Amino acid sequence: MDKLIIRGGNRLSGTIPISGAKNAALTLIPCALLTEEPVTLRNLPRLADIDGFQHLMGQFGVAHTIQGQRPEDFGRVVTLEATRLTGTVAPYELVRKMRASILVLGPMLARMGEATVSLPGGCAIGNRPIDLHLKALEAFGAHIELAQGYVKASAPDGGLPGGDFDFPIVSVGATENALMAAVLCNGTSRLINAAREPEIVDLCRLLTAMGAEIEGIGTSELTIHGAKRLHGATYRVMPDRIEAGSYACAAAITGGDVRLEGAEAEDMGSTLHALRNIGVEIESDKKGIDVRANGPLKAHNLTTAPFPGLATDMQAQLMSLLTRAEGTSVLKETIFENRFMHVPELARMGADIETEGRTAIVRGPVNLTGAEVMATDLRASMSLVIAGLAAEGETTVRRLYHLDRGYERLEEKLQLVGADIERVGDD
Ligand code: UD1
Repeated sequence: MDKLIIRGGNRLSGTIPISGAKNAALTLIPCALLTEEPVTLRNLPRLADIDGFQHLMGQFGVAHTIQGQRPEDFGRVVTLEATRLTGTVAPYELVRKMRASILVLGPMLARMGEATVSLPGGCAIGNRPIDLHLKALEAFGAHIELAQGYVKASAPDGGLPGGDFDFPIVSVGATENALMAAVLCNGTSRLINAAREPEIVDLCRLLTAMGAEIEGIGTSELTIHGAKRLHGATYRVMPDRIEAGSYACAAAITGGDVRLEGAEAEDMGSTLHALRNIGVEIESDKKGIDVRANGPLKAHNLTTAPFPGLATDMQAQLMSLLTRAEGTSVLKETIFENRFMHVPELARMGADIETEGRTAIVRGPVNLTGAEVMATDLRASMSLVIAGLAAEGETTVRRLYHLDRGYERLEEKLQLVGADIERVGDD
């Protein structure tokens, strides 16, 4: 297995191209199940999770072609064609590796009248149940059975009628699954207290381009008028707001000056607000965001929340940054119960962080020192890279498969702005 070696201390300066959003791509790909016509996605990031999802789609008989992009380019153009589906089962060995596989349930059920998907099981950051995905589909008229670790969903003869569902808590994944089923229901459906993350807006835009009729896009109440059939579409995946936010933290912790090319400030409101409060200068235009950190960093309290609140996916990276800020910062994680696994690793690099349940108290500034570290999830791994960029000496980050799931060509992008980082084979 590969590892990353980072020699900290370089001030980052220059331009980083921001890739297409992983979390958007993972809900746009299963939309191809909703039509027999081709769906072309542009700006798809080259990531292990995206390849995995394409492989899963192949299990159902979905053909995919990758159109001519040079290997040196970021992003890909992929056409998915679900002319005739040959299977409706998402097996455990694929779902286990990639939780997002659960997102085939809604579209597959709506198109084929049945779908069998393995229960994803637990995950390093928490329990992550899927009860709300299932309840929303039941509200649309689906029959759900759980047996031998699988969810078996079926529609009545003549298809899903559609219906209303009021989410007791905001769930991104359940909103996505429900939306992808509702667009092919016979009647009108309403989703109340729906997630309104930018990735949901991206999903609604692709569905609309495919002929779906959705009212309330960008709000927490969505009304979907079901269609008999949807058609193909070509769609560009939105920029990755979490990747952009991560590199903003990397730039800031090194006192750097970096342009995030292609990043969309409107999608990143809370993250940019947090960075400004920490003392980072942010300027944005239509084509990107400039991040500059000249002065000292200041402590700042943060609480994760559904959009437009601060993304849980930014918590670990901001925590690394706050280890270098003057004063005490309190970070509260409200989305997942076990999302502080980076804390003991950051502590090994010299961070002064205390946790009490879902709260972390960060005292700074500390001088970070290089160490051998590893993390158990994607964003936690990124927080260690960020700390490594500011640490004195050498940091080795192991278990790179987490980073490869979510950051397209991470070390290349950081090298572009002057980081001393390399990927080497493990010994
Ligand atoms: C969540 C994040 C998303 C992030 C992703 C990956 C939120 C609201 N969602 O999305 O921004 O990109 O993780 O890190 O910040 N829940 C249930 N039952 C369900 C589904 C969810 O109880 O059926 C709970 C979860 O345990 C969690 C909360 O609802 O506490 C939000 O989960 P959800 O938004 O569904 O998670 P993801 O879609 O994975």
